[in-house]
Amino acid sequence: MATVANALAIQDFFHFDAAELDARIVAAKQQLGDRLVILGHHYQREEVFCHAHFSGDSLKLSRLAAQSQAEYIVFCGVHFMAEVADILSRPEQTAILPDLAAGCSMADMANLGKVERAWGELHEILGDADQTITPVTYINSAADLKAFCGRHGGIVCTSSNARQVLDWSLQQRAKVLFFPDQHLGRNTGYGMGIPLEEMVTWDFMQPMGGLTPEQIHRAKIILWKGFCSVHQMFLPAHVNAFREKFPEGKVISHPECSFEVCQMSDYVGSTEFIIKTVAESASGSRWLVGTELNLVNRLHERCKHEGKHVHFMSSTICMCSTMFRIDPQHLLWTLENLLGDKVVNRIRVPENIATDARLALERMFAVSV
Ligand code: 13P
Ligand code: SF4
Repeated sequence: MATVANALAIQDFFHFDAAELDARIVAAKQQLGDRLVILGHHYQREEVFCHAHFSGDSLKLSRLAAQSQAEYIVFCGVHFMAEVADILSRPEQTAILPDLAAGCSMADMANLGKVERAWGELHEILGDADQTITPVTYINSAADLKAFCGRHGGIVCTSSNARQVLDWSLQQRAKVLFFPDQHLGRNTGYGMGIPLEEMVTWDFMQPMGGLTPEQIHRAKIILWKGFCSVHQMFLPAHVNAFREKFPEGKVISHPECSFEVCQMSDYVGSTEFIIKTVAESASGSRWLVGTELNLVNRLHERCKHEGKHVHFMSSTICMCSTMFRIDPQHLLWTLENLLGDKVVNRIRVPENIATDARLALERMFAVSV
């Protein structure tokens, strides 16, 4: 039944205006009924986000994907999220990413070849790597890196459980190799009391990560030199300017922000945590928010009626441009093809990779409360 032969063509969907797209998405959702679940990440643009059955951060969405009974899981997010949905769902379910070009530039900063090379080099310095290092991958990574962690006694983390995951990992072995986001690893490790000197940055462009054997021996956490191009735009100068103007205001940031920005923030947490914290704050409160623009704009709209003020941290527009590729045209194209029993843009992780990746994801669920 799942085939793309005679599928409707995406080009035809760019002739519709916004109202028509919206109405047709609503109608297609209604016709597909329980066979469909649309999951929407908080960074999704509003015209798409409003059609999601459920929204959340990466941890919440991966749990929802695992629990869903729907035949079709349409993921309005980025590629690694749809891969996780495929890994955690049953074989008869189908995970779909409306635009295959919706990737994550941070996830692309690590790949299996580079991680295996690093593992081999660390093995040479430290002895048996499987006895000395727990590999930890941020969920923002390709499925084969999750599988690597599964095979080597490692684990996956998200921005909302990184501390519990690092605690567990350091109970297994003396050191952690954390990829691909250096900032989440550093911010979390420091919050657990690990000094900066015991966290080194592995430059994946250089032999031996650009580190000396002494530095590697001394390190507790080895941080892959990856970062998010959106969150690196938030700077200490933005926080200083806000505090000067609004000394009573609060600052809240995502842990993908730099160490300096997170240290200057009153609160640091996942997208779900940011929304919850601001939404539950007292009326009249003022917030500077260091995360993606679509989330912040939506939070501003939601809170302004309660007299709350929500400011975006950067003075320039910084959006997750890959997430933005999921537009109403691609969503409608996906749904109307499903109505004709045609599956477009299915995300399917090969079973041998999925099996090992599931191991690392299940370890994560076991340590997350
Ligand atoms: P959350 O899990 O906090 O939603 O973060 C996902 C992400 O990609 C942030 O850039
Ligand atoms: Fe990836 Fe950054 Fe986009 Fe999050 S905001 S999905 S880390 S590129």
